[in-house]
Amino acid sequence: MLQSAALVVAAAALAAAQAPSYAPIRVDCPSAALIGRLGDPTRGNQTLPPDEQQYIDNRRNNVLPDLWQQYLNDNATGSTGYSASEIVGGQPNLGIAISGGGLRASLYGAGTLSALDGRNSSTAGPLLQLASYLAGLSGGSWTVTSVALNDLEPIYSLVTGANSSRTGGWQLDRDILAPSGLLGFSDNGNYYDSLEEDVRAKAAAGFPISITDLWGRALAYHFLNGTTEDNFFSTDAAHDQGTLFSSIRYTTSFQSGQMPYPILATTSRINENQQLTNDSTSVIPLENTGFEISPFTFGSFEATLAAYIPLEYLGTQLSNGQPTNRCVNYFDNAGFAMGSSASLFNAVQEGFVGATFSSLLSNLLQAVTDLDPPEGSVALVANYPNSFGNFTPDTGYSFESAGEQILQVTDGGEDGQNVPLMPLLAKARALDAIFAVDGSADTSETYANGTSLVATAQKVELHAHNYTRFPDIPHNQQEFVDQGLTTRPTFFGCNISDANMGNYSNYPIIIYHPNSAGANPGATNYSTFKLSYEDSETISFLDAANLYAKRGYPDPSTPTQPDEQWPLCLKCAVVDRARQRAGVARTDACQACLNRYCWSPEIADQLVNATQTAGNNTPASGGGGGGGASPSSGAARALALPAGGVVAAAAAVLGGFALLA
Ligand SMILES: *[C@@H]1O[C@H](CO)[C@@H](O)[C@H](O)[C@H]1NC(C)=O
Ligand SMILES: *[C@@H]1O[C@H](CO)[C@@H](O)[C@H](O)[C@H]1NC(C)=O
Ligand SMILES: *[C@@H]1O[C@H](CO)[C@@H](O)[C@H](O)[C@H]1NC(C)=O
Ligand SMILES: *[C@@H]1O[C@H](CO)[C@@H](O)[C@H](O)[C@H]1NC(C)=O
Ligand SMILES: *[C@@H]1O[C@H](CO)[C@@H](O)[C@H](O)[C@H]1NC(C)=O
Ligand SMILES: *[C@@H]1O[C@H](CO)[C@@H](O)[C@H](O)[C@H]1NC(C)=O
Ligand SMILES: *[C@@H]1O[C@H](CO)[C@@H](O)[C@H](O)[C@H]1NC(C)=O
Ligand SMILES: *[C@@H]1O[C@H](CO)[C@@H](O)[C@H](O)[C@H]1NC(C)=O
Ligand SMILES: *[C@@H]1O[C@H](CO)[C@@H](O)[C@H](O)[C@H]1NC(C)=O
Ligand SMILES: *[C@@H]1O[C@H](CO)[C@@H](O)[C@H](O)[C@H]1NC(C)=O
Ligand SMILES: *[C@@H]1O[C@H](CO)[C@@H](O)[C@H](O)[C@H]1NC(C)=O
Ligand SMILES: *[C@@H]1O[C@H](CO)[C@@H](O)[C@H](O)[C@H]1NC(C)=O
Repeated sequence: MLQSAALVVAAAALAAAQAPSYAPIRVDCPSAALIGRLGDPTRGNQTLPPDEQQYIDNRRNNVLPDLWQQYLNDNATGSTGYSASEIVGGQPNLGIAISGGGLRASLYGAGTLSALDGRNSSTAGPLLQLASYLAGLSGGSWTVTSVALNDLEPIYSLVTGANSSRTGGWQLDRDILAPSGLLGFSDNGNYYDSLEEDVRAKAAAGFPISITDLWGRALAYHFLNGTTEDNFFSTDAAHDQGTLFSSIRYTTSFQSGQMPYPILATTSRINENQQLTNDSTSVIPLENTGFEISPFTFGSFEATLAAYIPLEYLGTQLSNGQPTNRCVNYFDNAGFAMGSSASLFNAVQEGFVGATFSSLLSNLLQAVTDLDPPEGSVALVANYPNSFGNFTPDTGYSFESAGEQILQVTDGGEDGQNVPLMPLLAKARALDAIFAVDGSADTSETYANGTSLVATAQKVELHAHNYTRFPDIPHNQQEFVDQGLTTRPTFFGCNISDANMGNYSNYPIIIYHPNSAGANPGATNYSTFKLSYEDSETISFLDAANLYAKRGYPDPSTPTQPDEQWPLCLKCAVVDRARQRAGVARTDACQACLNRYCWSPEIADQLVNATQTAGNNTPASGGGGGGGASPSSGAARALALPAGGVVAAAAAVLGGFALLA
């Protein structure tokens, strides 16, 4: 009886969480305040939103202790020599962050997560199951949303569709913008009409729209579960037009506290006039507020906002916290959330001028105009009616977009921080370690070179390291490269004098996992332009990323052999702060591991020397070859694009839209 009653409740809640269409609706406002403040760590009162706190408390108290205990006792991943119960008493607290970089980053993130998924009989450890938080940005946000809304389905079957309970997986063989191929004009036309129809409904309901809405609808066909191989071009199927990001709350694994709390990261800009110089590698200044989308809230812990709106009321226009109109529901469409985190179109507007491109851009602007956007819509960014209008943070800082009607939300990586670390550095989240998966295309060979970490270090400096802290890292990308840190995982910030998160001087250990060549077991460096993958490419990419995540830092004399100590070293790192809080000394086994993987400024010279020596001895790259712009991006690629991953990627996607529109 009890059980069936619970099921009825869950089913009713689920029905309410699925909107009838893509268009948000207007509802009466609740009497409670709509804006929640997150406090100020410099005054010692930064807090989590209450719903998140409750979720995390339940997970930390009732789910994670047993899992940590099992992990520590699991000799297959090596023995730390610590007493499991002492370490668990220290409450280890792990986060995972997945970078942007288009489908390459989605797949690199997915392959890495599969290695961290305890169900994949991996030796890297069940870090996915142990993580308190899972953050994603742009391409990484697609992975995170897909994992969460598909109820934590095992990663490999989630992506490939190998599990018969789902049909088709991510279907990356269908190009995101031209799914029936360049010759299949009529199917592409129907497909595009379906996207347009949904977005038109949102505009007709009076909500500002942009190209991000079309983009988000396209992403939903792949990363959410409502589109199958059979119904892909069907105009009758809903294709997740009403699936909300907040629906994550109703999945079984979320309800039972099994899921790492998922977070998507974005940046924002004030308006079109806020532009950086043409030669900058980023588009949005680090000073601008980064926003996060989570199952309960939309907002930011950053000093310039320190506030949130409950996710179900996202889209509500507020002035100093007061509604200026009726409230809004269903604005938190899951596809739109993924599109927002990957809303990179403004990069082109800011970074590129040229006759060919101008006409492309004007075609696209016309395509958005054809959808009858309400006045004030901004075509090339994600449009959020500003819930933080005339808002004053209580941190002493001011919110730069407080004077705007529309909050202009942009791709999470546009300020150069392509790995979503900021949300995980919030002091209130108290993370001990962050596994940072960097699939950025920083180098000419489409690998990462530390650009994102350098940007995050600069961002943290903006507030004098008082608002949050970040460990010492090399000063710039050249130092990352010279010290060999782009070729293997490295731990930053191992040693700290007080591991209590309440102590200001504390920060998490960053476990940096850059996509790299070296002895890479297969291609993981496909172009950001590539908007479709053959099934065989998808599988070999997943396998390569999976192996790479289990490889660690091989002995230079046997560069293709995984480091056998790596699983143990990972374990030592993720529990090290909890060990310290528990007052336990490092064991020799863990100290040896940390000596191998931890970076500090003192060893920089030594690493340069070692890297130079090894340089004469580098193995032939096993990977590579991952070139290939997809057909739909051909037009954009033919343009003379400026350097800079985000600008090029934006142009590629816009080129694809131009062919469709
Ligand atoms: C934090 O403390 C400051 C200063 O006392 C106060 O103005 C602010 O309201 C507090 N914020 C929260 C969320 O408690
Ligand atoms: C793991 O190894 C430790 C030390 O070698 C041993 O004490 C313990 O019993 C082993 N645990 C299991 C489950 O085999
Ligand atoms: C698709 O995802 C939703 C939301 O998590 C879930 O309720 C539904 O059961 C899933 N459908 C399938 C076919 O897996
Ligand atoms: C298929 O999906 C179900 C539900 O998520 C899961 O329990 C099962 O382990 C999956 N099977 C495989 C082979 O991944
Ligand atoms: C970028 O370069 C173009 C052409 O050289 C110029 O018109 C534009 O003003 C520049 N933008 C910025 C922000 O400097
Ligand atoms: C940061 O903290 C230091 C030391 O507590 C203090 O001297 C400084 O004024 C603070 N800076 C800001 C911007 O709050
Ligand atoms: C690192 O990547 C950035 C692009 O993000 C590039 O400008 C820079 O030249 C690269 N530096 C090195 C040393 O690879
Ligand atoms: C924080 O840690 C530092 C370094 O160990 C210590 O000097 C300081 O007293 C600690 N502060 C608090 C508030 O615990
Ligand atoms: C685990 O990952 C590997 C590598 O991608 C894959 O081949 C295998 O099928 C996965 N196994 C399961 C059970 O998901
Ligand atoms: C951290 O501390 C240990 C023990 O004091 C020391 O051996 C090690 O060199 C330090 N490591 C770093 C990276 O500073
Ligand atoms: C690095 O190599 C140089 C030249 O061989 C040598 O002088 C220096 O002592 C080495 N530094 C370290 C830290 O090993
Ligand atoms: C991938 O890396 C290989 C070398 O490791 C390189 O030859 C190839 O051009 C790279 N592919 C892309 C798309 O950058």
